[in-house]
Amino acid sequence: MKEKKTEVILEVKNLKKVYMKNDGEPHVAVNGISFELMKGEIFSFLGPNGAGKSTTINMLTAQLTPTDGEIVFQGQSLKDNPIFAKSKVGVVAQHNNLDRGLTARENLIYHGQYFGMSEGDAAKKADELLASFGLTDWGNDYVKSFSGGMAQRLKIARAIMHQPEILFLDEPTTGLDPAYREILWQHVLKLNKEYNTTVFLTTHYMEEPERFSDRVAIYNKGAIKTLGTVEELRKKVPSQTIITIVLDALNEDVVKEVKSQADVKDVSVKDEKTFVVYVDNSQKVINELLALIDKKGLTLESINLSATTLDDIFIHLTTNDIKND
Ligand SMILES: Nc1ncnc2c1ncn2[C@@H]1O[C@H](COP(=O)(O)OP(=O)(O)OP(=O)(O)O)[C@@H](O)[C@H]1O
Ligand SMILES: [Mg+2]
Repeated sequence: MKEKKTEVILEVKNLKKVYMKNDGEPHVAVNGISFELMKGEIFSFLGPNGAGKSTTINMLTAQLTPTDGEIVFQGQSLKDNPIFAKSKVGVVAQHNNLDRGLTARENLIYHGQYFGMSEGDAAKKADELLASFGLTDWGNDYVKSFSGGMAQRLKIARAIMHQPEILFLDEPTTGLDPAYREILWQHVLKLNKEYNTTVFLTTHYMEEPERFSDRVAIYNKGAIKTLGTVEELRKKVPSQTIITIVLDALNEDVVKEVKSQADVKDVSVKDEKTFVVYVDNSQKVINELLALIDKKGLTLESINLSATTLDDIFIHLTTNDIKND
């Protein structure tokens, strides 16, 4: 059990963002959310594509002006003092915002100097990070020649050049191979442990928040659906055991029939072939499911019994919204 963090570093009150679409219609991307970020915690902000996660990060890092609401960073209003907040955060944005006219090493050194490091300290740190992220041989190359994964590694190195108070990571591991994912997490956990750096993470890889988060918010359609530790979130799903079934093709009749079985607590449809069944008595339900699939003349591609993961919690708390779109 992780130690509970109690000092508030960032307060978000009724934060809202309405975009104007090209057709002149307003689009509410963030619909008045409120939460507190605690000093030293790793906070995961999870939600489906288009839910408004990057919009939220852009507002929290003073890159985008909110339509309404308030953000208070270390007791100071972000609106009144954006420079103060900007000087204390590190951001790995979702898009590539490296300076294409600079080399990799220059990207890091200039960033460090901008955040108050001496040229010597910035150069030393840049070389350490280039080595850590496998970019030493590319340090003097312009970033326009970088592959997607290389650019991502450099964006991460840049965000941690100066020890930020809060590190915002917007899908930082997208495009990274598994070895560099681990290296990223080693750096993030080291910052968190040694400097009590607060981490605000968005990701679609659910094993990351499950392994590393103090708290998780599940967010969809502009609103926070649930917020708590992974253990607290586990209690939000109908059972702790699930059966995942992949058929050659899924139809509503089968889902309805499975849902009506006595020991089935709930059913979530994952994709056009896969559904997830929340169960109490797994052995009995497996036998019933196999009989039903046989009776319907369907082809079973796979069946898997497991404990619920954050992936399942996420799907359970967001699929109904998606289905109703
Ligand atoms: N500049 C903009 N103008 C109009 N609409 C926008 C703009 N930026 C984002 N949106 C819309 O706001 C919604 C939220 O976008 P956002 O990028 O915050 O989502 P996200 O949760 O980060 O998604 P993803 O997981 O795909 O990164 C989307 O519907 C998007 O189309
Ligand atoms: Mg995004």
